[in-house]
Amino acid sequence: MSQKLKRIAVFTSGGDAPGMNAGLRAVVRTSAHYEMEVFGIHGGYEGMIDGNLKKLEIRDVGNIIQRGGTFLKTARSQRFMTEEGRKLAFESLKKNKIDACIALGGNGTFTGAELFYREYGVPIVGVPCTIDNDLYGTDFTIGFDTAVNTAVEAVDKIRDTAESHDRLFFIEVMGRNSGFLALHTAIASGAGHVLLPEKEMTLDDLVRNLQKSSRRKKLFSLIIVAEGNPIGRADKIAEEIKAKFDVFDTRVAVIGHLQRGGAPSGFDRLLASRLGNGAIEALQDGHKNVMVGLVSHQIKHTPLSIAVKNQKEINLDLLRLAEMLAI
Ligand code: F6P
Repeated sequence: MSQKLKRIAVFTSGGDAPGMNAGLRAVVRTSAHYEMEVFGIHGGYEGMIDGNLKKLEIRDVGNIIQRGGTFLKTARSQRFMTEEGRKLAFESLKKNKIDACIALGGNGTFTGAELFYREYGVPIVGVPCTIDNDLYGTDFTIGFDTAVNTAVEAVDKIRDTAESHDRLFFIEVMGRNSGFLALHTAIASGAGHVLLPEKEMTLDDLVRNLQKSSRRKKLFSLIIVAEGNPIGRADKIAEEIKAKFDVFDTRVAVIGHLQRGGAPSGFDRLLASRLGNGAIEALQDGHKNVMVGLVSHQIKHTPLSIAVKNQKEINLDLLRLAEMLAI
């Protein structure tokens, strides 16, 4: 242990993700174990700037492990992106005698955290939370598994109606510029086609694939569309495909923010418990600006600068699998 930390602050920032509450519970209870006081900052960096923090006791995080969202609230702060905003944030942490912070969030959150550490030297440990699973330094982010399950459940339901009407369905899932959510959803729901940001594909390629399916007597089709794919949004693709391949009646479903809500899966609760605990232990071990992640089932520390700069690659074997099974 390098230094005795007495007072730490924890916050959630960026898009919420199922399992954030379980992560907060682990942070608060592990802090109690190490006899540190922990303060919850409300509304992410916005709350840090405004000094909106409150001491959290172990009972404050009871009965939240199973809840989606984040009881501390979250925000995408524009003010923290300014020098003035970060200065105010530092002053408010100093005023409250905060020794270190734990940030639960995604790439934007950690980009801000890394800059803040460089400017003001406040130790800050990141816990990866995003349904997009797009963070380097962890095999999985908190919330991803739940979002995949939510999307799969939705696709299963759409499958019933698609099959009953022999329809072509374009189903758009979130993921920003990454295709993890789309690819995992496509494989787990047995969808015939998937459009990913990581794979170059044209409308003509898609038409050829659909023609192939049709020759194989496929009477309905499910196409999972990652929101960041290079062709465009699901409604636009559906329109254009209709003009080129008018064999099926076509419909569009955008799952949207449904994927961000709901009770976290068992996997996400376990991951959040491990990483929340790991974040406090990282501070105890003297880490100052790292992200805790799970790599091959083990807790790993990745410098925030590396976590935010590197791109996590999609598993090409999974893409191959999706294509092989979608016949
Ligand atoms: O990063 C999580 C995410 O849900 C993305 O998949 C999506 O592109 C984005 O956030 C939506 O953000 P907002 O809720 O701010 O519209």
